[in-house]
Amino acid sequence: MQNNMLVTVISTGYFILCFLIPLGYLFLFARYKSKKKNYGRAFIIALIMFLILFGIKEVVKENFLNVKPLNCYLNKVCEEKEDEDKMDENKSEKATKTTTSSSTTTTTSKVVKNEKTYEKVKEISGTKTDKGKTSKGYSIYEINGVTFVDGYLIANKSYFLPESYVPDNTYTKADGNAAKQCPTCIENTAYQAFKDMKADAAALGLNIYISSGFRSYITQSNIYNRNVTNNGQEKADTYSARPGSSEHQTGLCFDLNTIDSSFANTSEGKWVNQNAHKYGYIIRYPKGKTEETGYIYEPWHLRYVGTELAEKLYNNGNWLTIEDYFGITSEYSE
Ligand code: DAL
Ligand code: ZN
Repeated sequence: MQNNMLVTVISTGYFILCFLIPLGYLFLFARYKSKKKNYGRAFIIALIMFLILFGIKEVVKENFLNVKPLNCYLNKVCEEKEDEDKMDENKSEKATKTTTSSSTTTTTSKVVKNEKTYEKVKEISGTKTDKGKTSKGYSIYEINGVTFVDGYLIANKSYFLPESYVPDNTYTKADGNAAKQCPTCIENTAYQAFKDMKADAAALGLNIYISSGFRSYITQSNIYNRNVTNNGQEKADTYSARPGSSEHQTGLCFDLNTIDSSFANTSEGKWVNQNAHKYGYIIRYPKGKTEETGYIYEPWHLRYVGTELAEKLYNNGNWLTIEDYFGITSEYSE
């Protein structure tokens, strides 16, 4: 747009004349054509005059002058619109920059979060005892009786934790203070990622919360024994870990919201299934993987492994298990 004020004044003046000339014609017609006044014809002539004059203006404007329409100057509509356009351009530029360096999501705020990498939790300190290789060639070793495969802590039906094991770095989300034991405590690295996940879910109107986090050996023992009493050992073993074999003792996992298979069909359950991996979490016991994990589908049980492994296990929505990926078993020896 050019800002030549003279052109603008001429343009505006001409636009006013487009009205004034036909109106002047009508005035003179009414004033001096005394007899047999045909007002209808005079009005049509005035209208034609206006259209011709206005048409000339538009042709000149389009072809010879690059002038803003009159209402730009009278109402400042164009300037506001231009400002809006510029803002939109800036916004979309920013959005494009963000989107190009991130993975696929639907909203800008989520895209930004997705750029984040969540590191796996560090191994505990202590002497490593080499236990060879898994069936898929990964290193397996113990540190203070805790099993690791390729740097990831393993707790399942094959690999038990020592009775005394508690995570180094647990966290309570209720008051922000570190705590070794509380029903909703989880390990601190995992907690930081959970906080982001929870915030992003909340921004979409979803409420995810930890209903069960760290469990000590003794707590798990009580839960398991209760399940055995209620349902028998065979059934209990399909959904409840024997003390020492529960991931809950690691502090690296939690159960979300309602611990029920219906969770998978809630908005929260669906979102978690599709997005948890972006925060380094996996669905630890995916659907149809009982043979591998030893447990029925638990859509509510999330395990923190960091984004690098979580992305691989997410497998574009076809969840792989830790057992399958690393080539390890999850079977009780007796
Ligand atoms: N529900 C899981 C398997 C546990 O008890 O740790
Ligand atoms: Zn669980």
